[in-house]
Amino acid sequence: MSFIKVENLVKKYESNTAVAGISLEIEKGELFGLLGPNGAGKSTTISMLSGLLTPTEGSICINGIDIVKKPMEVKKILGLVPQEIALYPTLTAKENLDFWGKMYNLSGKELRNRVQEVLELVGLEDRKNERIEKYSGGMKRRINIGAALLHRPEILIMDEPTVGIDPQSRNHILETVKRLNSEGMTVIYTSHYMEEVEFLCTRIGIIDHGRLLAMGEKDELKRSVITMDKIELELSKVTPTVSERIEKLEHVESFTVEDRKVTINSRKSEELLGNVLSAISKMNIKVLSMKIQEPNLESVFLSLTGRALRD
Ligand SMILES: Nc1ncnc2c1ncn2[C@@H]1O[C@H](COP(=O)(O)OP(=O)(O)OP(=O)(O)O)[C@@H](O)[C@H]1O
Ligand SMILES: [Mg+2]
Repeated sequence: MSFIKVENLVKKYESNTAVAGISLEIEKGELFGLLGPNGAGKSTTISMLSGLLTPTEGSICINGIDIVKKPMEVKKILGLVPQEIALYPTLTAKENLDFWGKMYNLSGKELRNRVQEVLELVGLEDRKNERIEKYSGGMKRRINIGAALLHRPEILIMDEPTVGIDPQSRNHILETVKRLNSEGMTVIYTSHYMEEVEFLCTRIGIIDHGRLLAMGEKDELKRSVITMDKIELELSKVTPTVSERIEKLEHVESFTVEDRKVTINSRKSEELLGNVLSAISKMNIKVLSMKIQEPNLESVFLSLTGRALRD
């Protein structure tokens, strides 16, 4: 049986169906990514997975335990990093972690040690005695993550933990998540940043309008969508001959020429590139810049929904 098994999960708010029938299974030790735009239903799904919200329909079993029937048992092995920061601004980072540790029934030496370990893990040991209100957004997020780790959960559920923060904290968080996962923690990571999910996760679900539009291994998802590589070239000049020559090359599916920019769609960009470059140089034209774009999760999303992940 899967470590986490979700069957036909539905959440309705009066007239609005936020989650419209999601089924998924996650194995122990996986780093599963849930990717979707604003309002897709990510937070609602996660709130049900962590026992904060009761599903309208469907079931969730974690480690064989039904979360609706026995929420406390499941919560013991779960750590949730909510989208909204859940910290007291006037307390220091250490005091905040002490508070959360006590909520998880830690005390005495065990609590002290664990708070210290978590401060080191999130890289804020040297700032532990500063009040949270003086922290940057990224530092707050790191403490928010620390709070979810105090009771050594087996599963870490993170709801968009890097929104609106500085690159340094973002990298620290991504590296921490990778490390926790490599040490055996099962992680569910939601985001609307395609590049984060692409960097972190091996298996991904793409969610929109409360439904899973696609789910699978990252590479499998990319292959499942017929997308083409894009070769973008900026040339020193463009003459009518450029279009004529490009049109005749093998593996050119389609192309556009705008000002001095040539964009070519191809299924075999590697084989095509050399021929394009030599055709251009024969016309005594220089290539000022060159970019090859391979299919990514953004193109998968675009092809599934007809719109971009970010507005
Ligand atoms: N308490 C609520 N009452 C009514 N509707 C809600 C409530 N919470 C969420 N919704 C609606 O459910 C849908 C899904 O919201 P949800 O917060 O799960 O999306 P999300 O994917 O987390 O979005 P974001 O990326 O903006 O955080 C939205 O249409 C939202 O307006
Ligand atoms: Mg959300």
